[in-house]
Amino acid sequence: MVDSLKSKRLSGVGEYYFSKKLKQIEELNKAGHQVLNLGIGSPDLKPPQSVQDALIAGLEESNANQYQSYKGIPELREAFASWYQTYFDLSLNPDQEVLPLIGSKEGIMHISMSLLNERDKVLVPNPGYPTYGAASKIAGAEVIHYTLNENNNYLPDFDELELLENVKLMWVNYPHMPTGTDGSEELFQRLVNFSRKKGIIIVNDNPYGFILTNEQNSLLKHRHESDLVLELNSLSKSHNMAGWRVGLISGNPDLIQTILTFKSNMDSGQFKPIMRAAIAALNEPKSWYDQINSEYRKRREKVLEIVDLIDCKITNKQVGMFVWTKISTKHQQAELFADHLLEEYKIFVPPGSVFGSEGGQYIRFSLCSDMPVWNEVINRIKEKK
Ligand SMILES: Cc1ncc(COP(=O)(O)O)c(C=O)c1O
Repeated sequence: MVDSLKSKRLSGVGEYYFSKKLKQIEELNKAGHQVLNLGIGSPDLKPPQSVQDALIAGLEESNANQYQSYKGIPELREAFASWYQTYFDLSLNPDQEVLPLIGSKEGIMHISMSLLNERDKVLVPNPGYPTYGAASKIAGAEVIHYTLNENNNYLPDFDELELLENVKLMWVNYPHMPTGTDGSEELFQRLVNFSRKKGIIIVNDNPYGFILTNEQNSLLKHRHESDLVLELNSLSKSHNMAGWRVGLISGNPDLIQTILTFKSNMDSGQFKPIMRAAIAALNEPKSWYDQINSEYRKRREKVLEIVDLIDCKITNKQVGMFVWTKISTKHQQAELFADHLLEEYKIFVPPGSVFGSEGGQYIRFSLCSDMPVWNEVINRIKEKK
């Protein structure tokens, strides 16, 4: 495309790393290599059977093919509210505090476009999910990175953040991707206090709350209705429904109403059978989460074996769908090390630098490959050692 046609708001926003890398992997595969992709957080496990049944039954509903409400069907909002009650022990008003979405990623853009003006300051974690920065830039805002590293246990340094003036919005993401750091009641209480003190909107992006965690924590647990806090959540990881595109924004009702003004001009609601399927997912018993976690635990053990074989190490306690791995000091940069893994063993593991400069010494394994793949990786490495 001719560069001069590109809108100014896209300047500084690159093509999404994984979309570029997938093309390269496709080329390698075409050339006869069998690249094992250990990078992408798209669950290979199946959604619950109840979800597929509800989708099929939903197709028979008389208005299944019609436009649906921008706020989703009431039963879906109610199912989200009771899911939060059951697992996060907090109550949400389904009509005012719950807004279904086509995934949490969509929510990041909606929030940015609805609440940010040109040059507003936005706090974004480094390392962190790249979409926070990209959406902020597209909205014309100024991105200020806050550092998460071993020294601060991957938690925001509130003393440092206190000094900043005129910040409008802060992104947090606990359990944190890519480092696997879990949130805690104490952290979320501090964040709510910080939001009150500084008048900052704080959004917690929480799609990993069910993966290898002991309990579900939420930023909304300690808030009052008027607090400027929001939370994104998603069925992509908790129910293996990444491609189904279901998530939600919950929290401050006035902010949600504002976001709806933007969202209702973007989409025309979700496909009703998918909403029915989402309700079935949300009604799954606790044993559903136990079952997927027992598989992830086995996979994690294999990754730890691989981490040892390639002379890397794990330096913090981790939950979630990834293993954040520090490279050996003899390899100076994660990008070069990731290239080496691709070249030598035909395995793709993204360098931590994709998630920010603080990731320069790390690579990130995803747990979304099954056991034969991990065994094959181990064989490939052992054969060459
Ligand atoms: C931190 C984080 N937020 C959001 C998303 C996107 O989730 P969804 O599929 O709900 O859009 C991802 C996906 O990888 C993620 O890692």
